[in-house]
Amino acid sequence: FGLAIPEYFLDIEDLAVARNENANKFSKGLLQLEMSVAPVTQDIVTLGATAAHEFLTEEDKKKIDMIIIGTETGVDQSKSASVFIHNLLGIQPFARSVEIKEACYGATAGLDFAKNHILRNPDSYVLLIASDIAKYGIGTSGESTQGAGSCAMLIKKDPNILILNDDNVCQTRDIMDFWRPNYSPYPYVDGHFSTKQYLECLETTWEEYRKRNNKDLKDFEAFCFHLPFPKLGLKGLQSIVPKGIDKNLKEKLLENLHTSIIYSRRIGNIYTGSLYLGLLSLLENSTTLKAGDNIALFSYGSGAVCEIFSGTLAENFKNHLRNNRNEDFEKRKRLSVEQYEKMFFEEISPDENGNVEFKNDDSLFSLKKIEEHKRIYKYNPK
Ligand code: HMG
Repeated sequence: FGLAIPEYFLDIEDLAVARNENANKFSKGLLQLEMSVAPVTQDIVTLGATAAHEFLTEEDKKKIDMIIIGTETGVDQSKSASVFIHNLLGIQPFARSVEIKEACYGATAGLDFAKNHILRNPDSYVLLIASDIAKYGIGTSGESTQGAGSCAMLIKKDPNILILNDDNVCQTRDIMDFWRPNYSPYPYVDGHFSTKQYLECLETTWEEYRKRNNKDLKDFEAFCFHLPFPKLGLKGLQSIVPKGIDKNLKEKLLENLHTSIIYSRRIGNIYTGSLYLGLLSLLENSTTLKAGDNIALFSYGSGAVCEIFSGTLAENFKNHLRNNRNEDFEKRKRLSVEQYEKMFFEEISPDENGNVEFKNDDSLFSLKKIEEHKRIYKYNPK
């Protein structure tokens, strides 16, 4: 399980001041504190490769025969971002590399495809990446919920961290709550309608999940949610906790919910990765979870498709997670609002031959240039 975040961030209070909003609206109303900002040289490919690089061994690279990337901010309409990542990471050649799209839900579909692939090919490994850069535009109502980052997971038989259960329940609803037509750089969003749909999808899918699986909240130590902004996870939990529920159970679920939003509060929405960012935040920061505990997960992608599924923590799962993630946050550089507007919304404008040269970015992976409309990436081993 790996995570990559860009090296820049915006303090949400600075954004509130610049937009003439009460800072509490963002920090208390949405529970957002900071937002990750990616320069033009960091995209879903470089972030995805960086997240996977965090844990991949040479042995893993020989066994991976499928790379799935879930994204809704792809860099090309035809070529899959995972083909670039396959090359950047040096994965063995006889692999399948694809990109899946359904708003923020894509990586969850990828997870199920990966699981089925492993069932048929027990010795192979699948690299699953959820990578996105969420931009709503300057001065929009979604601006305070933007973010950038990538989660990468290695899916295999006998997992080290989380054992997936076979209890998935999905729902599809043809709605226009958030969408991005091909001609638009930013999504269109019906903000309040989208949150209402998110909660309704959660409640109805949870009802169906309970019926089909004969499971209830008491069977779980924690519930992780897709986090378009952290407060919606909290509202989600509150919407499925019935009145009169055991006080200790409620407190435990609430405490774990707050642990699951620690990273999102400092990163923002990373679309396909947001649910997994919540899971990682919970696993890396919890001091109470133990092997055998069950965790429920709610994935939601606008449009809309959602899914509830669960996993069980593996023996010694903590040994396979980082315990110094804070260092990555502390290393980030804080931007002024002016710098953020310039950096996050910089557009790529190739010359008439399709060439652009970017300023040097000495990150592990970066976009170096575009040559005759081809993206050229750089690997800068540290
Ligand atoms: P808004 O309409 O500007 O804000 O934007 P608001 O007026 O609803 O206020 C937000 C909260 O702050 C409210 O809390 C206010 O009361 C509170 P609530 O009542 O809802 O609990 N508030 C304050 N609190 C303390 N002190 C104050 C104060 N002022 C207000 N002074 C909106 C909110 C979510 C609509 C906007 O940010 C937006 O459009 N975001 C993008 C859409 C989104 O995130 N939707 C979520 C569901 S859809 C989804 O999850 C899919 C997605 O990830 C995309 C995909 O699938 O690809 C988005």
